[in-house]
Parts: sequence; C-alpha cells; structure tokens
Amino acid sequence: MLTAARNEMLTRVGPGTPMGELLRRYWQPIAGASELEANPIKAVRLLGEDLVLYKDLRGCYGLIDRHCPHRRADMSYGWVEENGIRCSYHGWLVNEAGRCLEQPYEDTANPKPSKAGCDAKAYPVKECAGLLFAYLGPLPAPELPVWEPFTWPNGFREIVLADIPCNWFQCQENSIDPVHFEWMHDNWGSRLRGGGANAAPKHLKVKFEEFEHGFIYKRVREGQSEQDRYWTVGRVALWPNGFYLGSHFEWRVPVDDENTLSVAWFFMRVPKGREPYVQERVPTWVSPIKDDSGRWISSHVINQDIVAWVGQGRIADRTKENLRSSDIGVTMMRNRFFKELEAIAAGKEPGGVIRSANAAACIELPNMAREFNTEGIPLAEYDKDPIMRQRLKEFRHHYGQPAVVRRAFIEAMGIAGP
Ligand code: FES
Ligand SMILES: [Fe+2]
Repeated sequence: MLTAARNEMLTRVGPGTPMGELLRRYWQPIAGASELEANPIKAVRLLGEDLVLYKDLRGCYGLIDRHCPHRRADMSYGWVEENGIRCSYHGWLVNEAGRCLEQPYEDTANPKPSKAGCDAKAYPVKECAGLLFAYLGPLPAPELPVWEPFTWPNGFREIVLADIPCNWFQCQENSIDPVHFEWMHDNWGSRLRGGGANAAPKHLKVKFEEFEHGFIYKRVREGQSEQDRYWTVGRVALWPNGFYLGSHFEWRVPVDDENTLSVAWFFMRVPKGREPYVQERVPTWVSPIKDDSGRWISSHVINQDIVAWVGQGRIADRTKENLRSSDIGVTMMRNRFFKELEAIAAGKEPGGVIRSANAAACIELPNMAREFNTEGIPLAEYDKDPIMRQRLKEFRHHYGQPAVVRRAFIEAMGIAGP
C-alpha cells in the first residue's frame, strides 16, 4: 500500500514532475519507422507533451512541438520538405533541431538578419530495429541502448502498438508479476476457450533479482524444477518501462497521466535452412483493444494483460491495495523508482543511463531463448514444442494482426498458411 502522495510520485509524468523528469532521462520508443512511409507526419503525445513526428525528404527524423512557433497552428497538418516541416497556415519552415529556417512573407517583404527567438521545441529521434526512439531529457542525450535482439539477423520482426486508456505505471507493474501468468493467461484463458477447473500448474516459488537494466524474475511451477530456465535464467522487467521475454519486448510509454502507448517489438527466427533472410521493412500495426460491443478484447495474451491494466482504473489507487508475497517484485520496483527519483532530485544521473557508445552497442540481457533465436531450429522441430507450433499457426500476442503481415510472416518462415 502507498500513500496518495507516493502514488502521485510514481504516476505523474508531465514536464516538471519528478517521474516525468526521471523518464525523460531514457530514450522512449514512440513509433515504427514504417508508419511514416505512407504519411511522413504523425501527431504524437508523449509524457504530457503534444508533439509532431516527421521524416523529411532527406530521410531525417524530427520531433517538434505540435504547435507552430508563429501563431501555434497544428504542424501535423503541414507537409515535409527537403530539410524540415512546413506549417500550412503561413508557410514557416522548421527543421529537426527546431530552427525556424523560413518565414516566407517576412523573407520577402521584411527580411531580418536573424530568426532568433522563433525556434520550436525539438527532441532527438533515432531509428533502431525498425523502431523510432525519442529522447525528451536534458542534453547531451545518452546513448541509445541497442539490446542484443535488435542485432539478430535472419528473423521476421513486427511492431505492434496499442492505445491504453490508463496510467503507465500499472502496466509496468505487470512486467514483474509472474503469478498472473497462471491465472490471467492460463486459467482465465482456458475458461475463455470453454474449459473449466483451475488446472494450470501452480506457482510454487518466485524470486526477484535486481541488475543494472532492471529486474529478473524467476519462478518454479508444478512440473518444473530449479534446473528449468524459468528459474536459472528468468525474464526481465526492463528498466525503466519495458518488459523483455526472450523473443519480444514490450514498453509502456506514457502518453500522459491517464494514457499509455503500448509498443511491442517481436522477433521470430526463420527456420534453419532458410537463411539468409533479410527483412526489407519491419511492419507496424495497431491492435484494437475493444470489440464492437465496447467490451475489452480478451482473446490474445497482451489483450488479456490490458484488461487487467485498464481494470485498475485510469490511475490505480494504491492506497487501497493489499500486497502479499507474490508482489515482492512490485515493491522492489517501486522502491527503485523512489531511489532514482531521489538521485535525480540530488542532481545525480539515474541508473541504467548509458554514456559509452561501446557499452550501448549490443547489450545482452538474460534470455531463455538465445540459441533458438540466434541459431534457429529446422522447421520440423517447431512441431515438437507446443508454444512454437502455436506461434507458427497464429499470432497469439495481440488481437488483429493484418492479413498482409501474416502473409509476410508465412513467406519468411517458408510455411503453408491461410
Ligand atoms: S501559424 Fe504556422 S506559419 Fe503561421
Ligand atoms: Fe501477461
């Protein structure tokens, strides 16, 4: 249980709030690069700030104030040119550094030596593994962490976004919550498919370990032992707002205090023998979270998680909870946030910020599936593993995978399919 004041510290993300300042010290994934192919401009809201993301004709990404520095028209209704984005109201041109390069009427009728003072707010953007990351904190920006899976060749990658109408922190607490798998995904999943009985293998023990890039959680369930990778390796609650499960990442990116952008990046190694496989573009799609009757969609794994997150309210009221031993990881994570908030307040650099390009170039994380993802297995062997067999059959993580993405996946894997 937390006091209301402590809950506010964890959940408020706008400029000037303690958590807002902390999260601004890390690169945040905000979009898929492929989203900007059809339309090079996307309005985004991030950490309570309204912004516009664009790719100019040179291929340079910008993330600037949604409101034009002239009289605040909406830049997302402008257009991109060779070296920036132009406002459709009076034609001011702004580049990725926020510099105002042109003011057409002034340049013609009343030229001034300088456009100083007319700059727009601007943040750096970097592309990696098909994702676009933004950094909203004080400069110089730290290095963008290149997690090892971003460097893996011979895989089919896809990016799935979902707009979640609740605070980011309750989503992130789900990243350090092993026991929910048994109930939410196994037992409830079984009921949703018409099954009965709470027959999923029970969790017998869990443990949580802190490391530089977050926390590792480990578990033993009925039928497993301490020799199992779920105990010897575990899974990663990635600092500060990610989750890493060996073949995919999820980030809970705060839009504002009451909304979160779920960004998930998936990797599926092509079967042994189909190398080299080079993916030309990483598709990005948006997963719907409500059905036609207004109910939350519960058929897919992450959609089930979303039912839990939004069910906790727009901002979970942590003054009313009852934490138990299954929640030790949740408490550890909250305490680390409180510790880092103190570090920021004391003018120190928070943990997990990387300043060395070498250190950021390929960061290994605990991974239960490294050999599978890096060496691959023959197609015939997928059949022996129920999870892999299922993965080839359908995309179980998010509802609504577009047919065109499914077709590209089938082609990459070299399988027959609908
Ligand atoms: S408001 Fe954008 S150019 Fe005038
Ligand atoms: Fe889950």
